[in-house]
Amino acid sequence: MKMQNTRKITDNVVWIGANDRRIALFENLFPVERGVSYNSYMILDEKTAVMDTADSAVTQQFLENVRRTLDGRDLDYIVVNHMEPDHCANIEMLMRLYPGAKVVGNAKTFQMIGQFYDVDLTDRTVTVKEGDVLELGQHRLQFVFAPMVHWPEVMMAYEQTEKILFSADAFGSFGAVDALFNDEQDNPFADLAEMRRYFANIVGKYGPQVQAVLKKAAGLEISTICPLHGQVWRRDLDLLLEKHDKWSRYEAEEKAVAIFYASMYGNTAEAAEVLAAMLAEAGVKNTVVYDVSRTHVSWLIAEIFRCSNLVLAAPTYNNGLYPAMLNLLEDMKALNLQNRKVSIVENGSWAPQAGKIMREKLAGLKGMEILEKSVTVKSSLKEGQMEELRQMCAEIAGSLKA
Ligand code: FEO
Repeated sequence: MKMQNTRKITDNVVWIGANDRRIALFENLFPVERGVSYNSYMILDEKTAVMDTADSAVTQQFLENVRRTLDGRDLDYIVVNHMEPDHCANIEMLMRLYPGAKVVGNAKTFQMIGQFYDVDLTDRTVTVKEGDVLELGQHRLQFVFAPMVHWPEVMMAYEQTEKILFSADAFGSFGAVDALFNDEQDNPFADLAEMRRYFANIVGKYGPQVQAVLKKAAGLEISTICPLHGQVWRRDLDLLLEKHDKWSRYEAEEKAVAIFYASMYGNTAEAAEVLAAMLAEAGVKNTVVYDVSRTHVSWLIAEIFRCSNLVLAAPTYNNGLYPAMLNLLEDMKALNLQNRKVSIVENGSWAPQAGKIMREKLAGLKGMEILEKSVTVKSSLKEGQMEELRQMCAEIAGSLKA
């Protein structure tokens, strides 16, 4: 039997989630070296409510947390803010263990429960609409719909008495939680890079919908934000909201350059490295360089959310674009990336195509400005092209000052 591993958020609101540090790929897609947390919460009042469940990987710990936190009481409500299986995997089990519990969701929630599970929901549902309030006693849950952050059925629940926002996937992060609360460390962000990567790849596509949520949140007095992944926020909420506002407007956080190169034999890489050195010598700080074959695309996407200027450098391959760069550009499109300044370096030994294809792909994205100076390498960088790279460097440096 597992021990109870819970944290009190307030006297009667308890974190009952769990960390998974064994998981290699979140959604079987994103590397999570620091794992992930599946947050679930319980409210103990005249009525008891579980706020979302947890992933099947942590079922044992989750169920023990539920049992011990209830301490012999019955469970009245299972509130389902999000139907993705990393949060709803234990709904069926809770319904069986607590036959008096009703499932609280919206019309779309129940449609999805039917799709994922064969549970008998007869007399076991409470269907809510935007703005409805569920009375638990002293605690009152007001439902704030957040469609497409990150699925269509998503809603948040605002607890009016203690001013706690149960925010579903919004304001979450990759990474298991070391300290659950963000006031238990010096820095308000446990790991800003992981939070950015989570935002960029999980909800990055839905900027306008996140903006809608931020507007709704602005109308609420919030003391604590309880997301489904990552830390519970109870200090510096303004910093958290500010980052999400910037990201969801596709506005760069920093005036900085990210150079992404693809290179089979090191020749395109050489051009990228020379350009990075020139930028540094020109006084441009904080330039980062990535080999797109080496770094997982989710990190590259996160860096694009951070940086104002991109350099894409890639060889021609099979009369097309080198696959790893093509993958990055397609992911940028899928995630709705916008409003960056881009410089292009292509390589081709007999019929360079990479630059043309990169331009076409970028033309399909909103607000992408392709800077004038581009460089074509034919197989390997030659002395005469150093001047072209210098001009590219000067243009980038100028655009950063603009
Ligand atoms: Fe963490 Fe969209 O689920």
